[in-house]
Amino acid sequence: MLQWVNILHRKRIEKLINSPDKSMCCKVSLKNNRIFYSVTKNNKIILDESGLGILICGEQPIANKIALVRYQESRHRETITMPWGEVETINNDYNEVAFFLSEEQSPHRIMTIRFRVFNNAVAFCYEIPPQPKFSQISIAEELTEFNIDLNSVAWKIPAYQPDRYEYNYEKTNLGSLNESVHTPLTIKTPNGIYLSIHEAALYNYGSATLKLNGDRHLSTDITPLSDGTKAHVILPFQTPWRLIMVAESAIELTTNHTMYTLNDPPESDFSWVKTLKFIGIWWAMYVGEWTWAKGERHGATTEHAKEYIDAAVRLGISGVLIEGWNEGWEGDWLQNGINNQFTVSTPDFNLEEVSRYARQRGIEIVGHHETVGFIDNYEKQLESAYNYYAINGIKYIKTGYAGSMMLINGRREYHHSQLGVIHYQKTVELAAKKHICLDIHEPIKGTGIERTWPNLLSREGARGQEYEGGAISPSHACILPYTRLLSGGMDYTSGIFDLENNVKRIATTLARQLAYFVVIYSGMQMAADRPFIYEERFKQEFEFIKNVPTNFSTSLPLAGEIGEYYVVARKDRESEDWFVGGITDENGRTIHLVFDFLDMNSSYEASIYADAREAHFRDNPFATEIKTQRLKHNNSLDIYLAPGGGFAMQIRKLN
Ligand code: NOJ
Repeated sequence: MLQWVNILHRKRIEKLINSPDKSMCCKVSLKNNRIFYSVTKNNKIILDESGLGILICGEQPIANKIALVRYQESRHRETITMPWGEVETINNDYNEVAFFLSEEQSPHRIMTIRFRVFNNAVAFCYEIPPQPKFSQISIAEELTEFNIDLNSVAWKIPAYQPDRYEYNYEKTNLGSLNESVHTPLTIKTPNGIYLSIHEAALYNYGSATLKLNGDRHLSTDITPLSDGTKAHVILPFQTPWRLIMVAESAIELTTNHTMYTLNDPPESDFSWVKTLKFIGIWWAMYVGEWTWAKGERHGATTEHAKEYIDAAVRLGISGVLIEGWNEGWEGDWLQNGINNQFTVSTPDFNLEEVSRYARQRGIEIVGHHETVGFIDNYEKQLESAYNYYAINGIKYIKTGYAGSMMLINGRREYHHSQLGVIHYQKTVELAAKKHICLDIHEPIKGTGIERTWPNLLSREGARGQEYEGGAISPSHACILPYTRLLSGGMDYTSGIFDLENNVKRIATTLARQLAYFVVIYSGMQMAADRPFIYEERFKQEFEFIKNVPTNFSTSLPLAGEIGEYYVVARKDRESEDWFVGGITDENGRTIHLVFDFLDMNSSYEASIYADAREAHFRDNPFATEIKTQRLKHNNSLDIYLAPGGGFAMQIRKLN
């Protein structure tokens, strides 16, 4: 039988929670036996009255009178430090009110809803403590609404689809949403406010997707388990934070790092975690030169691995990914994941020898586990598979979960269900124990848990460059900074220079491939093409990839509009150098850059990699102009971006 843990009160009450600068205001009210909240920014309505609640499956009768027992207000102000990332510090500045609620009648169930109001966000979560008569619950649905003007526009990707998050974003009217969509869902309201609805600290619960409910309010649709419930949890339990990021411009939205503040600091020492740039035995498989499976054209041989290690040394890149090194890739590997063995190499690959060679040459190996979503098979081997890498000195693993559903306990489950979330977390925690960093492909979306688990260096979790060859439009990457990238870094597999390859033609210019290293942040950043392409044809362009860091102290978006263009400047965490990257959609454009972020009394020299006037992603992708130029604070520069193009810049401080 279904029952409510709902928030009911006889009297009407209203509580206003202001942000520290008073620009944001969240009103929480109890009326008609339900609890609601609404949000304004500078007195403009962002969310109108929106319902809250959790629907629980159980044996208890429907409770019908929950009263506010008390509420507790507090003020928090601190600066948090991120071990690596786009920024080094984040302001964690908010007013909090926790509403403690209890049923007035037996069984007197209790629940807390905790709100935090920031200058640029509102977040809240449900906390369900152990109850007088029961200590575990199954959740039938979360009834959180985000009552946003249906005349708003949204950039959506559909949920519950076979390719998980790997779809092109579509711009749509919120009122015409006819399916569940993933978060972050970015929205522009008719009054010009930019919002993104997301969640933070997703553990042990289904991932929230969003849809229009019966009242035509945007509301949570928690990813179900195969038994139809949303989650089975032991009390006390706290839901992930529901997060509404708010900005007055599209680029301001990209500076919102509230998600991380809603995650806990790490409990142990993660100073061993280092971000990484790597090449890999990878794109050669996508362009049909090599195969994952053993055979005549097998990519991951000892010989090829050593060649790639040597190339990494020559190119000044620290890591080498090796995919297809293990047994289990024969036939249609997308169907045969049950065969994957994670401690058995193919006969032509010697892991001990390769890792020894890499160590001698000062190169990190990035190991690879393609699970194809066969979690039962993977979890049986997890401990020994991680140990195998750890004893061979391998500190990075790229994992993969290709396949439309996961197989967990013999049942097909969504990647984004509670059981999927639990599995991903298991890998992150086990990897942390063994001092291994992860780059998860086909992951659960980012909810900022890398603040707590800094060894989770990157994820894929959106359509990446492997879809090139026809399935990515130039505007796709111009949407990512405002949508997917709000949930953390992404392994977009940037740096493909072989743009006119007949097997996979890339719809970008060459300069744009460089720009991606700045625009699309990743704690593990891949220079994805085969090394011979870099060495034989593009030595000068590769200099930029060699120099661009994977860890920044500050990031300043300079210009952009969703789906059209994005320009960002980032300062290296280890030096005084700045890196600027910009990309555009299928329209060429000139960007006026003002270098007001440079130090006032210093001189700089910029290396600029830009599209030539005649460049075009369709028929002239290689036309790049490379030049160096002196720069000072407040200098300005007009930079041309060709259709489907971009630019990259390294700005060195001169002493
Ligand atoms: C999909 C991943 O995104 C890709 O990077 C990987 O090469 C394949 N799966 C095989 O594991």
